Amino acid sequence: MSKKANSFRTPIGTRDLMPPESSRWEAVTEIFTGVASRAGFSLVDTPIFEDVGVFSRIGEGTDVVGKEMYEFRDRSDRPMALRPEGTAAICRAFAQHRPLVPWKVYYKGPYFRYEAPQAGRFRQFHQFGVESIGSDDPDIDVEVIALGWEVLRNVGLEQVLLVVNSMGDADTRTRYEGALHTYLTGRLSEIDEEDRAKVETHPLRVLDSKRPSTQAVANEAPQIGEFLTSEAQQHFDRVKDGLNSLSIPFTIEPKLVRGLDYYTHTTFEFQSSALESAQNTLCGGGRYNGLIEELGGPATPGIGFGMGIERLLLACDAEESFPDPGSKTQVWVVDVANGHSARDLTHQLRQRGIVADRNFDNRSMRSQMRSADRSGAEIALIIGEQELADQTVAIRMLRGDKAPQTVVARDEILNQVQQLLGPES
Ligand code: HAM
Repeated sequence: MSKKANSFRTPIGTRDLMPPESSRWEAVTEIFTGVASRAGFSLVDTPIFEDVGVFSRIGEGTDVVGKEMYEFRDRSDRPMALRPEGTAAICRAFAQHRPLVPWKVYYKGPYFRYEAPQAGRFRQFHQFGVESIGSDDPDIDVEVIALGWEVLRNVGLEQVLLVVNSMGDADTRTRYEGALHTYLTGRLSEIDEEDRAKVETHPLRVLDSKRPSTQAVANEAPQIGEFLTSEAQQHFDRVKDGLNSLSIPFTIEPKLVRGLDYYTHTTFEFQSSALESAQNTLCGGGRYNGLIEELGGPATPGIGFGMGIERLLLACDAEESFPDPGSKTQVWVVDVANGHSARDLTHQLRQRGIVADRNFDNRSMRSQMRSADRSGAEIALIIGEQELADQTVAIRMLRGDKAPQTVVARDEILNQVQQLLGPES
């Protein structure tokens, strides 16, 4: 097929969100914002692009920064990047505005990573996330994990595994990186050539490699849990106690170091066993007690998570949960007289908070009734020549036991419709 010069398509790795999928998207967003705001979190929205330096703090050795970031220079030659994740930008906002702590915020929006697109992996994807900034209390770790759990439960997912680990504090990390470096150096020849340089520069990142020979070496590497200081161990124990107390099932995964450099203490992921393992992480998060200071703010601890909306909905598809909520249309106005009644009535119904719609272009009665039926509306209001002359409207119930059509005076119709729809309308 010849491609016309001006027939554009979405860039690779991006998608158009369109009805009916968009209503499911809105419904899941409502669930997330409900869960977050019931726990005292408020919306924060940062720019989609920032000074590239904000995101360098995620770690120069990470794939997210080193290979996948959309970097560009603006017209004044400033180095910028499309945000690859939310946490660094939110910590930048905290350092800039210094709000009172605890600062409990949630966010939702698009993020950008130049990855190889596949099922569940996009170049523009969307996350819901929360960040709780200002306290080191392990009960906040539990609160944040519980919020992620609650969102997944509310969309009806059951095949979800929570894995947790602790990265310890700065001391743990230094001692672990030393031990890991010694171990990896000893097995350098077995590590995939592409990964060898990282042994010297970022030994922790060798553990994220997907290359089989590197993975085999990583699987036998010393584990960070063996290096936890007693304070770090106490923090982790308290988190585990909290999860048990809330009856949130979890597994400890000593190899869970996550692909971003800023983590300290608790790290966690919710993984779906209904999705393929390469893209089965629905939600990832953890503590980042040093990040705000690195971004020029006061030393302030924080913890949060990011949940991939596309993946969340793919997991729902795989488990056949959270179907499209369907149409919200309540009333369809059918006007086969001159269209004026449909114009005025839909407007008045909407002003009363009723979801109302109509056809245009003087369609036939048959065609308008078909639209009414397809819309999912409960009620059709019909105006023909007779009704127009009599200043009346015919009411036809479209669902359930179809009661006979009734006729109501035009100036009574709004009250009548409201009564028929009941108190929830
Ligand atoms: P992350 O693990 O890089 O963490 O991403 C979180 C989630 O975003 C993933 O679990 C996945 O569901 C989704 N995701 C990531 N990349 C893609 C992609 N290319 N296509 C589709 N979905 C994707 C963060 O971003 C951290 N900011 C999380 C966090 C918040 N840590 C502390 N606070």
